[in-house]
Amino acid sequence: MTTQGSADLVIVANRLPVDRVTLSDGSRRWRRSPGGLVSALEPVMRSNDGAWIGWTGVADDETDPFVDDGLWLVPVPLSAGEIEEFYEGFSNATLWPLYHDVVAKPEFHREWWDAYVRVNRRFAEKAAEIAAKDAMVWVHDYQLQLVPQMLRELRPDLRIGFFLHIPFPPTELFGQMPWRRQILEGLLGADVVGFQLSGAAQNFVRLVRQRVGHKTHRDMVYLPDGRTVQAMAFPISIDTDGFEELARSESVTERAAQIRSALGDPELVLLGIDRLDYTKGIYPRLRAWSELVADGDFSVKDSVFVQVATPSRERVEQYRILRDDIDRLVGRINGDLGRLGSPAIAYMHSSFPRHEMAALYRAADIMVVTPFRDGMNLVAKEYVACRYDNDGALVLSEFAGAANELRQAWLINPYDINGMKDAIVEAARAEPKEITRRMKAMRKQVRENDVASWANRFLEELEAARPSHSKKLRP
Ligand code: G6P
Repeated sequence: MTTQGSADLVIVANRLPVDRVTLSDGSRRWRRSPGGLVSALEPVMRSNDGAWIGWTGVADDETDPFVDDGLWLVPVPLSAGEIEEFYEGFSNATLWPLYHDVVAKPEFHREWWDAYVRVNRRFAEKAAEIAAKDAMVWVHDYQLQLVPQMLRELRPDLRIGFFLHIPFPPTELFGQMPWRRQILEGLLGADVVGFQLSGAAQNFVRLVRQRVGHKTHRDMVYLPDGRTVQAMAFPISIDTDGFEELARSESVTERAAQIRSALGDPELVLLGIDRLDYTKGIYPRLRAWSELVADGDFSVKDSVFVQVATPSRERVEQYRILRDDIDRLVGRINGDLGRLGSPAIAYMHSSFPRHEMAALYRAADIMVVTPFRDGMNLVAKEYVACRYDNDGALVLSEFAGAANELRQAWLINPYDINGMKDAIVEAARAEPKEITRRMKAMRKQVRENDVASWANRFLEELEAARPSHSKKLRP
């Protein structure tokens, strides 16, 4: 079992890869979150005394470190005030909108920043405490951008990697951030800073040159103390085989048929699955669909749009406003266009396990993914992984990172409602041969680039980053 100072690989993320669930008999236990990240890292963590540091999602949770299914999990507590100021505030009402093209207006509050610094320090101190000498520490995402530098000051022996799961904004937008220099310096504590796309890595290097004044060349930053920092793209992916296997299972196949029959066996099922987030472009997507139905391109008798919106960040004001907007829009569309037993939109505000998601992907003829801005969008890749018959069409926003790899999707601009309508009509009317050609190419891409290869690539870069620190990960 891992003890203090003995972990050779430490993952630091805002959330632990487990949720606390209460069973029907009132007892409580941990349930592994469905994310691909944890399944990708599990093998390498097991063979390297790995530990995962994160928040349990509950206020003032003082749970001691524990082992869950062979993984060593180390909770970091957040108080109710810190949840408000660090998580809902600075992370999700300042950084999130700023990094997503200011789709919503970012709020800048000095108290939120103070909480961000305080909580980042707590994560850094925890990592410093449990990492073995010369260990590798991999810090994840926008909630923890100051951790690399704080950790480097505490433990200069470590190799530190950072990966940003969301977009990194253009220099003009990042410039709004009152604490822009501190954030850049925070990230520069890492040896490797990873982004979803190479454009984001370039934004970062340019900002470091402009705002911090360090020398840079291509993807390298040269610090005055002789250290170098590498900024690179590592497009994240999914557990492709796991999804395909699930999709092929008898129970998913049966469930997919049940779903279609529950929808009244329509000829055409369109599907959207998103966290209920204003970056996802749910509103224009549903408007496009409603216009297509109103114009007579599709009828509610033989087609339906299934929209799943997973509850998210419900105490943040912009998310509440969005929920009300979507509720109202769906109500109006169904009121105007639906018929008895045939709504235009089947809307669910809930989260589903992987099994049900796979069944929905199997049941859908067209998957519609229309974010205004998205770091990657794994739902698009999951849909592709589940379409093992090489059928099914993907309509995908060009502003999702995934559009870089899934070039054969029907690519759309979510700000252009007519363009979106045209793409949906084209996808619905496409010849089977055309659908197959596109899906085959996309499946090849997702098969050859899964989340395990993503994690390995990152860790290999990190291992190579400081050859003087010779410790290698065990495969
Ligand atoms: C995005 C972020 C993650 C975050 C997830 C869920 O994918 O990149 O860091 O964990 O959304 O959001 P939540 O606020 O519930 O953690």
